[in-house]
Amino acid sequence: TRARVVIDRDFTLGEVPRRIFGSFVEHMGRCVYTGIFEPGHPEADEDGLRTDVLELTREMGVSVVRYPGGNFVSGYNWEDGVGPADQRPARLDGAWHTVESNAFGLHEFMTWARKAGVEPMEAINLGTRGVDAARELVEYANHPGGSALSDRRIANGAKDPFGIKLWCLGNEMDGPWQIGHKTAEEYGRLAQEAAKAMKFVDPTIEVVACGSSNLQMPTFGHWEHTVLGHAYDDVDYVSLHAYYEEHDGDHASFLASGVGMDTFIESVIATADAVGAARKSRKKINLSFDEWNVWYTRPGSEDAPGDVADAGWRHAPRLIEDAYSVTDAVVVGTFLNSLLRHGDRVKIANQAQLVNVIAPIRSEENGPAWRQTSFWPFARMSALAKGEIVAPRVISDRVDTAQYGDADLVDVAGSYDAESGRLALFLANRDLDGSAEVEVDLRGLTASSVTFAEVLTVPEGGDRNSANTEQDQDRVRMVALDGVAVDGGTVRLTLPALSWAAVELA
Ligand code: AHR
Repeated sequence: TRARVVIDRDFTLGEVPRRIFGSFVEHMGRCVYTGIFEPGHPEADEDGLRTDVLELTREMGVSVVRYPGGNFVSGYNWEDGVGPADQRPARLDGAWHTVESNAFGLHEFMTWARKAGVEPMEAINLGTRGVDAARELVEYANHPGGSALSDRRIANGAKDPFGIKLWCLGNEMDGPWQIGHKTAEEYGRLAQEAAKAMKFVDPTIEVVACGSSNLQMPTFGHWEHTVLGHAYDDVDYVSLHAYYEEHDGDHASFLASGVGMDTFIESVIATADAVGAARKSRKKINLSFDEWNVWYTRPGSEDAPGDVADAGWRHAPRLIEDAYSVTDAVVVGTFLNSLLRHGDRVKIANQAQLVNVIAPIRSEENGPAWRQTSFWPFARMSALAKGEIVAPRVISDRVDTAQYGDADLVDVAGSYDAESGRLALFLANRDLDGSAEVEVDLRGLTASSVTFAEVLTVPEGGDRNSANTEQDQDRVRMVALDGVAVDGGTVRLTLPALSWAAVELA
């Protein structure tokens, strides 16, 4: 495979939005319990938080974490999770058919977020609840004091307001599976009124309206148009959710999933801008891609949504604990590339989820925590993407895919940090069998040294399905990418078959 890439100093798309390196903690399966929180675990701190998971979260470079759901939030009463822990009620969570102990709630999450160094992104329940509970939660969390709810927070041990800036107006309200599912009209009005009431309490917050649960929803497009038709002036972002998987061994389509993500993002931008244009509004609605990942849905299995009920009411059961392969990690790398390339409009993105539940970090109860393959592209891009987003022009050999038509075999994103003079490039080779010769033509920029070059690919003796396990935690990781050549205006490198690389030049 061959590819030529042109990067021009003058063609940049604004600052890399740090919030695209977000993650998601839902009260689902073992994400909270035995994931981030496990009192009694040898690595737990004085708050019952697992320090091994905290360390991996920091190493991954996570910037913002959405909480507490997900489908869970649509039946959740936030009041159940605050106050003395021994007085909190156990509740039935209908979304995942589990028993929620409420041992972990808002205060515990805020403590965890502070220790993890992440910004909180709080979702409100617009399934079973409405405007009143939404504004009350903002008052409880963000008002300094002198009102009933803010004083209750203080009495519960948090003198200073939590200062949560980012709020999700419900979750996947277009989905018939959602508790309190609504039509676009119903949700659009509710989102508008909830946003207004929440901003009356704290005008500094930013709110995300639910877009479609995925591009395949029959109401996609109409949903965004209708919701924003009501709430355009009151909300700041519209959400996107998407999960991808390999179907029937069609690896070519799966590896081109990033093309699907590009299309999804561009379709939502077009729809939001169409609403804005018709209103003659100067305001732009930005995008919050607040759930994305690879997820192997297994219909009929105990951990498929909708099938969880068969297993009875359990507390923190194993749900969708997918083990990620090299192929999955390369696809995750291309999702990150897509998000970065669209960083002029995608201002928030959250890989779903953080621990155990379709997650880059795995942990075992009373056992170790380790990095899945998908941890690596996230960690590397979060560390290296700095300054301005560059807009690479890629001329690559292509592959014909059943799902996405023609797709570039080489996928590229990057950033340029004027302050340090460093150019970071993120490159994927979607070709399963052949390496890719890549030539990057730099215009208005020069590079004379390679400051970082690593690649994730098939490990020695392994294959595209190789994964990290509890027993072999480092089977797949980033390794040195040798042979990157720079001579001022041109960079030449070879990407191994099926790989994702991070290269930094100065
Ligand atoms: O991340 C798992 C689930 O996927 C979330 O709860 C829901 O929002 C989505 O359908």
